[in-house]
This record gives sequence, structure tokens and C-alpha cells, in this order.
Amino acid sequence: MAAYVCTRFCINKSKGSIRFIQRRYRVQTKWVSPKFPATELALHNFDTSYSKQLRGLWPSIRVAMLCEQKYGALINSFSSAPNVITELERFNRARTCCSSTQYKSQYQMSCFPKGDISRFKPARPDSSGILGYYLLDAASVLPVLALDVQPGRTVLDLCAAPGGKTLVLLQTHSVTNDLSGSRTMRLCRTLQSYLPKEFLDENKIHITSTDGRQLRMTEEKSFDRVLVDIPCTTDKHSAMVEENNVFKRSRTKERQKLPLLQTQLLLSGIQATRQGGNVVYSTCSLSQLQNECVVQQAISLAQQELGITVQVQDLRWFAQRFSDTFHFAPQLSVGELILPHLRANFGPIYMCKLQRMN
Ligand SMILES: C[S@@+](CC[C@H](N)C(=O)[O-])C[C@H]1O[C@@H](n2cnc3c(N)ncnc32)[C@H](O)[C@@H]1O
Repeated sequence: MAAYVCTRFCINKSKGSIRFIQRRYRVQTKWVSPKFPATELALHNFDTSYSKQLRGLWPSIRVAMLCEQKYGALINSFSSAPNVITELERFNRARTCCSSTQYKSQYQMSCFPKGDISRFKPARPDSSGILGYYLLDAASVLPVLALDVQPGRTVLDLCAAPGGKTLVLLQTHSVTNDLSGSRTMRLCRTLQSYLPKEFLDENKIHITSTDGRQLRMTEEKSFDRVLVDIPCTTDKHSAMVEENNVFKRSRTKERQKLPLLQTQLLLSGIQATRQGGNVVYSTCSLSQLQNECVVQQAISLAQQELGITVQVQDLRWFAQRFSDTFHFAPQLSVGELILPHLRANFGPIYMCKLQRMN
């Protein structure tokens, strides 16, 4: 047993002041670990399903999933901090790992070379408080690049919080949405740290917090590009972190319903796309059930129930272009999957690009 000092706030209503009160609590040091840790349940589930799905590839992917995540630094083109890229390259030995050839200055990502597991320093603010780069799994930029956003195009980011992909999207007129109020607040904080105040004031971005399944789009309101970056089993997080783990026993039903929610959100995304426009569906899971099966189910429901024809776009050329940096799964029935690998520990990220034909 040990005694800890705990500080409490106390608001004195009559005087309107805040006082600090120091109290001594006796806290039990004995930690009672859960009988079934969610991370173990996740790994058991993955071993059962992914050893069948990925066969000989699974043991090495498993090792990578249990090792530290590798990050990339998305250069913030809104920051006026000088020499962000040079500093990253010179002092951190990072190099540019992906950039858009059409809009090079818009999308630029630095990451450490293969096998280098160094960490980036936290980004520093420029004179207006805007941060120079955003750290994220470098592979999670690929679904946005596959969406091929161009100036003047309207974009909907259907499940946007905490906002990593929104930042990549943001040189266009964008609408971003997330169901969760608290996560939408987090999205707002991300945008405030990375975008100039004038950009937010000019209403170039609309932030909404509604259920993505209830968008009820009309033709006039539809978008050129829609990103459906879906809630999923977030495999790497689930294998490593107890907190907010979807494999907790208390969340079994929620987890089992994920493929249904994912199909409904993708269908909603397809409905929100204008004729000829594109949708990119993405997850951070290896699961066939949440990836290819959801895409195939949504395509057939769109045809049968909504009379909307959707075509899968070939992303093999795209995977080829980034194969120096990322490890892609051998050919899938639809879409591309980035596999975690010890020398380039990004992903898992699944993405599939669709085109609405009518
Ligand atoms: C994988 S996260 C999105 C990550 C984000 N795109 C990024 O890059 O930072 C999935 C998000 O979907 C949101 N979500 C879950 N159910 C939803 C629904 N029915 N409609 C809209 N968003 C939903 C969750 O709150 C969560 O923030």
C-alpha cells in the first residue's frame, strides 16, 4: 500500500473563486489486470482469421504489428516556417517519400529510410502559431492521393476526425463530417493548429457532425470526390493498446456490426458522389470482411437498391509508383492493401477507388 497526494479543484460559488485542495488518499498499488486483455483477444482473433487469409505472410506481419509504428511528416504548405523540409532532411535524415507530381507543393511527406526507426521531433509553430508538419502513418496519405483531388473540385470527407486526411485534402473547397461530437472538436483543434485563421474564416471548409448514413444527398449537393475513411478494427492499435480497444468484451456487438456500418457508410458516400465522380473507401485493417467484402456488397446494393452503377478503378499503377516505400499485398480481388513490414512499418491501410457511372 502506498499513499499518494492528490490535488483537487474546488469552486467557491459564493465568491466565484477556484481553490486548490490537497488531500491524501490511500490508493491500492496492486494492479488487477483484466482477465481477458483486449489486446490478447485481438491477437487471438487475428491469428485465427489472418493466418488463413494471409497464409505465409502472416507471421512477419504479426511481428511488425507488435513493433513500434513508423511515422511520416506531412509538410504543412500553410505554414510560413522557413526550411521545414531542409531541417527535416538535414537534422532528422528524413527524405521525401511521397508527393503529388501534379501539385508537388501541396502534398509532401517526409519519412525515414527503410529500416531506420528514428522518431521525428514535435513540429514547431511559425510566427502565427501554425505548425510546420503533421505526424501520421505515411501510408494513410495514399487513399487521399488515390482520390486525385484537384483545385476547384468539391470534396466530402465523410468520417473525418481527428483530421489527418482532411489536412491533406485541404487545398479545395471541402466538407468534412464526423458523427462523434468530441472527435469533431478534436478535428477543429487540428485544423486550427495547421490552417491560417483567414482560411477557416473564408468558409473554404464546412465542418458538420452528423451520422454519415443520413446525408440524404440531392444531385445539386453532390461532390466530385468523396473519402470514406471508415471506423474499423484499427488492427495495429488493437494489437498494442488496451485503451479504447474495440476487442474489449463489452464491445463485441459493436465490433460484429462494423461490416454493416461500413457498408452503409460506403453506400451513403456513393450516393453523395456526382455522376462521373470518385469515392475512395479506406480502412486501417487487414480484414477481408471489412475490406473487399464491404466494397463488393456496397457495389451490388448500390445497383440493386439505388440503381447506381459503380465501377472499381484499377490502382495497380498507383501501388507500383509507391512500392519503393510501402509493402503492398499480392493482388486482391478489389483494391490495394499496404502491409506492415519491419523495415517499413506503415499500415495496415486498405483502399479501393470507385467511380460512379450514372
Ligand atoms: C478511422 S476514423 C477517421 C480518421 C480520419 N479520416 C483521419 O484521417 O484522421 C473513423 C471516424 O468515423 C467516425 N464515425 C463513426 N461512425 C460514423 C457515422 N455513422 N457517421 C460519420 N462518422 C462516423 C468516428 O467518429 C471516427 O472519427
